[in-house]
Amino acid sequence: MRLDQHPILSFDRGKPITFTFDGKPVNANEGESIAAALHAAGYKTLSHSLKLGRPRGFFCAIGKCSSCMMQVNGIPNVKTCMVLAEEGMDVRTQHGWGELKNKPSSRTYPRREMPLLETDVAVVGAGPAGLSAAIYASKFGAKVLVFEENTKVGGQLIKQTHMFFGSRDHHAGVRGIDIGDKLISQLGDNVEIMTETPVVGYYAPGELAVIRDHRLHRVRAKKIIVATGASENMLALPNNDLPGVYGAGAVQTLMNVYGVLPGKRMLMVGAGNIGVIVAYQALQAGVDVAAVVEALPVIGAYQVHASKLRRCGVPILTRHTIQTTWGDGQVEGATIVRLDDNWRQIPGTEQDIACDTICLSVGLKPTVEIFFQAGCSMAKIPELGGDIPIRNEFMETSVEGLYVAGDASSIEEASSAMLEGRLAGLDAVEKLKGSSDELQELKNHVKESLDELRAGPFGEKIRQGEKKLQEEASRL
Ligand SMILES: Cc1cc2nc3c(=O)[nH]c(=O)nc-3n(C[C@H](O)[C@H](O)[C@H](O)COP(=O)(O)OP(=O)(O)OC[C@H]3O[C@@H](n4cnc5c(N)ncnc54)[C@H](O)[C@@H]3O)c2cc1C
Ligand code: FES
Repeated sequence: MRLDQHPILSFDRGKPITFTFDGKPVNANEGESIAAALHAAGYKTLSHSLKLGRPRGFFCAIGKCSSCMMQVNGIPNVKTCMVLAEEGMDVRTQHGWGELKNKPSSRTYPRREMPLLETDVAVVGAGPAGLSAAIYASKFGAKVLVFEENTKVGGQLIKQTHMFFGSRDHHAGVRGIDIGDKLISQLGDNVEIMTETPVVGYYAPGELAVIRDHRLHRVRAKKIIVATGASENMLALPNNDLPGVYGAGAVQTLMNVYGVLPGKRMLMVGAGNIGVIVAYQALQAGVDVAAVVEALPVIGAYQVHASKLRRCGVPILTRHTIQTTWGDGQVEGATIVRLDDNWRQIPGTEQDIACDTICLSVGLKPTVEIFFQAGCSMAKIPELGGDIPIRNEFMETSVEGLYVAGDASSIEEASSAMLEGRLAGLDAVEKLKGSSDELQELKNHVKESLDELRAGPFGEKIRQGEKKLQEEASRL
């Protein structure tokens, strides 16, 4: 169902269009992803799994999990959360691997030279980290190309309707959706952003492969800054693949980007900031939130967010977890259970909750495939989110000229992502174009701001992770 009203957002729906889903007509609007348009029309099952043929809906909505892959205009494995619906499209449920109906021949696609894009600095990802890197590298004279696989610029910010915390310097008190616009307005003329352009590989040093307009392009850059963000963790439980089980970010994308309801009644799993904020945003959109369950004995979210949710009558059950989810083809409910002091489920405390939406907010992991492919030295640091590239204080990895910034380097917040992006951008341009007093001053200021940001009690985990990272780096 599409939203007509929202307390914060207004949805500028595009021109009405029609496409077909398994032969049936579906009404959509220009600017909607295929998956969002199908949800709005009430279709949650998009594919069937490889071996057991189980129904699959979408989970991440940001192109990172592959559960939304369908056959579009005869082409299999299209990630329908990332591709916009078009008039007359033929969209079909994919069963297993999918099949390419009309196999291309050398006659349909004659051999052509691979296009080459050259730049001083290539930035991968146009979230707060990537945009900040582009702003600061270009400020001191670098030509910058930013590659973004999404149709929109801003990364996670495009769906954050709440006011951000932190200091004024880091846009505190500004809604996330407006921070993205502020960053975009600061981009210099020597920055070009290419949307719908995923980076699919790092090959020779300084060389990337990107897909643009259905063609593979080669990118040659003197410095590369990778700010690919993070993806959501799945939770191991029976039937966790049923359509109707989503990551919290996917629910946000549906509601806040496309104005489409994920369902009527939701169970939220995880009471960290993201879980509690998304549960509140679901209420704002008109979804009934049955409860928030949290395995820890305490609520991880800032109290102000938790209090807002409680005032609306939503119970936050600590020391509880989801035991199973059930439903015929899609989620119809979940069983939750209490945990004892040793994290064991207490028999007899099970409780069934009727709901059509289960939202998992159980942590994020950095998106780091490019660093593995580039042969960077990696370290597993749980405090920073898992596998991350080892990097120096200016965000350069063990591969010279390859930088990391934002959630891809450690799961933190937009404020630290922006600072890390600035640092990477400044270091890259300094090495390319030479230093100056202004650049040095800025670099020192950004470093101090990062240290200040991580100094408080909320930065304790990150400080521990940073310490481990430095130990790993000293062993290289
Ligand atoms: C519900 C919620 C609430 C939050 N609240 C706050 C808050 O109050 N304050 C705060 O400071 N932070 C908050 N955050 C965290 C903040 O949004 C993130 O830390 C921040 O967006 C990370 O920025 P990033 O640029 O590293 O990654 P992202 O914002 O995730 O951007 C990464 C970008 O890279 C693109 N990309 C990925 N792979 C490729 C590829 N191969 N090719 C091309 N492009 C690619 C993605 O499409 C994306 O646009 C919140 C997050 C959530 C989910
Ligand atoms: S890739 Fe589309 S839902 Fe995850």
